[in-house]
Amino acid sequence: AVTRTFSIIKPDATRRNLTGAVTKMLEDAGLRVVASKRIQMTREQAEGFYAVHKERPFFGELCDFMTSGPVVVQVLEGEDAVKRNRDVMGATNPADADEGTIRKTFAEGIEANSVHGSDSEENAAIEIDYFFDKNELVG
Ligand code: CMP
Repeated sequence: AVTRTFSIIKPDATRRNLTGAVTKMLEDAGLRVVASKRIQMTREQAEGFYAVHKERPFFGELCDFMTSGPVVVQVLEGEDAVKRNRDVMGATNPADADEGTIRKTFAEGIEANSVHGSDSEENAAIEIDYFFDKNELVG
């Protein structure tokens, strides 16, 4: 089925001017950008977004990183969008990511890994809601 997922192009990628290159890989993987905005995440937004990780040792650093520069938040639509996006992103750690994936191609490390993607349809809906109003999604 055609579904939607949520994506973030992270500060390591925007800093290296890779917004277009990353988006091209998403589009080439069969995903359509139905919403997109470049934002500077606040500390509160980052902490809220990653609340599920707040007991992890890397939580503070992760929030520092995600607020270290602009990010591009996007809603992607396509056949089985969550899985399709996760496949083109590659493994969280670029050292483990397959050739041809976004993280293998661009990521600097396990934290500065260039992109975020929802891990389930349920979380996709929550994450889309966290950053977008309904009227910002144009399919
Ligand atoms: P993301 O998919 O955005 O979800 C949580 C993020 O935490 C992950 O991508 C990485 O950026 C970061 N992350 C995950 N594991 C680690 C780790 N072991 N050390 C530092 N950052 C991590």
